Amino acid sequence: MTEKPDGFDSSLPVHAKPHTKKGCIALSEYVINGRRKLNGVIDIQGAKNSILPILAGTVLCQSEVILHHCPNITDVETAVRILRCLGCVVRRDGTTITVNSRNMHGYAIPDELMREMRSSVMFLGAILARTGYAEISLPGGCELGARPIDIHLNALSQMGMIVEENHGKITGRTVMPLHSANINLSFPSVGATENIILAGVLARGTTVITNCAREPEIVDLADFLNRCGAKITGAGDSIIYIEGVDTLSGTQYSVIPDRIVCATYMAATAVSGGKVLLRGVIKSHLDSVTTLIQQAGCEVEYTREGISVSSDGCLKKLRLIRTMPYPGFPTDTQAPFMAMCCFAEGTSVFVENIFDSRYRHAYELCRMGAEIDIQGKVAIVEGNREHLSGSVVEAKDLRGGASLIVAGLGAYGTTTVKGGQYIDRGYEKIEEYLGNAGADIVKI
Ligand code: EPZ
Repeated sequence: MTEKPDGFDSSLPVHAKPHTKKGCIALSEYVINGRRKLNGVIDIQGAKNSILPILAGTVLCQSEVILHHCPNITDVETAVRILRCLGCVVRRDGTTITVNSRNMHGYAIPDELMREMRSSVMFLGAILARTGYAEISLPGGCELGARPIDIHLNALSQMGMIVEENHGKITGRTVMPLHSANINLSFPSVGATENIILAGVLARGTTVITNCAREPEIVDLADFLNRCGAKITGAGDSIIYIEGVDTLSGTQYSVIPDRIVCATYMAATAVSGGKVLLRGVIKSHLDSVTTLIQQAGCEVEYTREGISVSSDGCLKKLRLIRTMPYPGFPTDTQAPFMAMCCFAEGTSVFVENIFDSRYRHAYELCRMGAEIDIQGKVAIVEGNREHLSGSVVEAKDLRGGASLIVAGLGAYGTTTVKGGQYIDRGYEKIEEYLGNAGADIVKI
C-alpha cells in the first residue's frame, strides 16, 4: 500500500479562506412580471459542463493554461477555490481564467467544497494522476436523487487506484504512474468518462473506454488536453482511446458555448412570444432540441451568427419527450421544456431516463396552476396557454430553477423564484440577458 506522497501534509494551510457553505454562495431570488414578448440577441455563455472538467484538467499541466469564454457562474468559482486549495495559482479576468499548476502540492478537496458542487468528483482522476494520492468526500444524495460514483471508482481501480472509503470520505492512492486499462462503462456516464480521460492522459499505456459518453463537452475536454500534448482519439464516439504521455504543457483554449443554456433561452422565447437570435452557438449541438422547439410551433432559422427562434406564443403539445444520453434529448433541458409545455394546448408526456429524481420543479410549477402528474419516471403535463399565474416558488436545483423562470415569463402576474442561488450555479447574468431582450425580470 503506498503511503501518502512525500511532502504532502494534509495539515498544510488551505489556500482558500476557510468558509462555511452558506458563506460562499450568496442567497438570491428572481422576480418576474410575465407576458412580455422577447426580441433581440442573446450571446450564449461558455459551457459550464465543459469548463468544469477542463479546470480539473489544468491540474495535469506543468505550465500556464489560459482559458477563454469561461462563464461567470458560481460552479466555476467553486472549481477555482478547489484549484487554489490544491496549491494552483489561479487568476480571473472577466471570462478569462489563467491557471498555473506547476507548484501544486495538495491532494484533498475540503468537504464544504465537495458539498457545493457534486461534480467535484471529476477532480479525483486528475489529482490522482498528478500526485498518486487523492482525498474527496462522497458527493452524497442531492437534488437529482442519488449521485453514486461507483462507475468512477470501478474504472479508476482498473487503472491502479486503491480506494478506501470511510465515514463518507474517499481516499484514492496509486503507485505512479497509473496504468492503462480496457474499461467498459455500465452506463455512458459523462463524469466517469471525463474522470477516466483525466486519469489516462499520464498513465502508462493506452486506455480504451467503451460505451463512453459522447457529449460535446467530452470532445471539448479531449480537444483541450490534446492541445496540451495529450493523445486522445475517438472523443464524441462510443469508444475513446487515450495513449498515455509523460507530461502535459500549457495552452490557450476557448470553451465551447453552453448548449443547455441556449436550449433554456429557446424555451423562454417560445413561452414569451417574439424573436430572439441565440448568438455564438454550435448548431449541431442542439439538433434534438431544435427539432422539439419546431414541433412546439416555433420557427427556427439557422443564421451565420447562430440560431434564431421566433414564436407567436401559441404552442403545441409535445406528445412524448424521452431524455437520453447525447445525441438524444438532454436531461438538463427536461425541466425548461416542461415549463414550456405547461403553456402548450394538450397533453405532453416526459420520460426521465437519466436521473432517478428530476421532477422536483413539477411541484413548484403546479403552485403556478400547472397540471402535472408524476408517475415514477413519467410526467404527464396537461398544458393550457392561459393557466399559469404568478406565485412564490422555490428552486431546488439548477435546471429546475431555470424552468421556474421560464414559467414566470409566460405566466400572468408576478412570479418570485426563491433559491436563485441554484440558478446562479449555471446561468450567467440570466436577468440581464432576458431583460435586454424585453423581459421584466430582476434579481434580488
Ligand atoms: C453530467 O453529470 C452533467 N454535469 C449533468 O449536468 C448532466 O445532467 C449529466 O452529466 C447527464 O448528461 C456536469 O457535466 C458537471 P452522469 P454527471 O454521470 O456526470 C448515474 C447540470 O444541470 N451514475 O452521466 O454526474 C447517475 O446517478 C448537470 O448541468 C451512476 O449510477 O452525470 C445518473 O443517474 C446536472 N454511477 C446517470 O448515471 C456513477 O458512477 C448519469 O450520470 C455515475 C453516474
